[in-house]
Amino acid sequence: MAPTLASSRFSARFGLATPIALAPMALASGGLLAAACSHAGALGLVGGGYGDLGWTQREYGLALEHGERERIGCGFIVWKLDEDASALDWVLEQRPRALMLSFGDPRPYAQRIARSGAVLVFQVQRLEQVPQALEAGAQVIVAQGGEAGGHGMDGLNGRATLAFVPELADWLAAHAPDTLLLAAGGVADGRTLAAVRLLGADGALVGSRLWATAESLAAPGAKQQALRTTGDGTARSSVFDILRRKNWPQPYDFRAIRNALHREWENRIDELRANPAAGRAAYDAGVQQGDFERAHATVGEAVGLVRDLPGAAEAIARMDRQARALLGD
Ligand SMILES: Cc1cc2nc3c(=O)[nH]c(=O)nc-3n(C[C@H](O)[C@H](O)[C@H](O)COP(=O)(O)O)c2cc1C
Repeated sequence: MAPTLASSRFSARFGLATPIALAPMALASGGLLAAACSHAGALGLVGGGYGDLGWTQREYGLALEHGERERIGCGFIVWKLDEDASALDWVLEQRPRALMLSFGDPRPYAQRIARSGAVLVFQVQRLEQVPQALEAGAQVIVAQGGEAGGHGMDGLNGRATLAFVPELADWLAAHAPDTLLLAAGGVADGRTLAAVRLLGADGALVGSRLWATAESLAAPGAKQQALRTTGDGTARSSVFDILRRKNWPQPYDFRAIRNALHREWENRIDELRANPAAGRAAYDAGVQQGDFERAHATVGEAVGLVRDLPGAAEAIARMDRQARALLGD
C-alpha cells in the first residue's frame, strides 16, 4: 500500500497530527518556535546546539510554558557535549519527549538519555554511522542530505537526500525494522514532504522552512535576505565556521547563504584558516551592523521554496495539506 501522511509510524508513536519534526536549529529553534510546532501537531525540538546552559534553560523553559509538553524535546551537537554536557543533563531532568543528537558518537550519552525516558533521535549523514546509533539506543534515525541548511558532512563524505533516504529505509527494514526514519535536507513544502514518505521515510525533520517563520529566532535581516535568495544561492564550506571561531572537526562543514564575504574567501580557505584576523573583523562588523553580506544567514537549498515568513503553524498546515492532497490521504 502506498504511504500516506496518516499512516506514518512517526505520527503514531509520538501522537502527532502530521509527521514533521522541527529541526533543533542552534539559536533559531527557540522555545516559542518549538511551542508553536507542538501546538500544530508536530514535534518541537529546541535548538540546544552548542550546549549553552543559560540559553537552553531559558528557551526550553519557554517551550514547556507555552507548548504541548508531550511534543517537546531538545537537540544538541555531540562533539560540544563532549566538552560540557551540563545543558543536556539539565534538559534530561525536565523529562523531554525526545532528545536529538548529531555530529559525534552518541554512545557515551546513551545510558543517561535512556534513564530519563526520552526517545533518542540521532542524525546521520552516512549509512555507516547507523550501527553506532542503534548501539546507543536510537529509536529514530534522521537521514540528513547535503542540501540541508547548517552543518552536515562535506562534499567528499555527504549524501544527497533523494538516494540516501530509500537506501537507509531498506537497510532499517532489513536490520532494525522498529527503528523510525526521518528525512532531512530539502523538505520545505507538501511536494517534498510527500516525496520523502514515498522514499520510505516515516516523516521529515524540517529546518530551513521553519527557520523562515515569525517565531524563529533568526535575525530579521537574515530572514529578509533568505526571501531574496533562490536555491542557487547557498553553498557548503568551512568559511563561516572559521569566521565565527567555531572549531568544527572534519568531515563536517556548513551550508548557508553564499554572501559577499563568503565569496571573498571561498577559494582561499587555507589562507583564511592560517590568517583569520581580517576576515573575522569583517564578519564581526557585519554581525554588529546587521549586514548579511558579511554576517551569515543559515539556510539550505530549500530556501528556494521559501517565499514568505508565515507563522510556524501556517507553514506546517500548508505542507501537511499539500502532501495529503498529493498522497491521496
Ligand atoms: C539555522 C540552522 C541551524 C541548525 N543547527 C543544527 C544544530 O544545532 N544541530 C543539528 O543537529 N542540526 C542543525 N541543523 C540541521 C538540521 O538539523 C537539519 O538537518 C536541516 O535543517 C534539514 O535541512 P533543511 O534546512 O533543508 O530543512 C541546523 C539547520 C539550520 C538551517
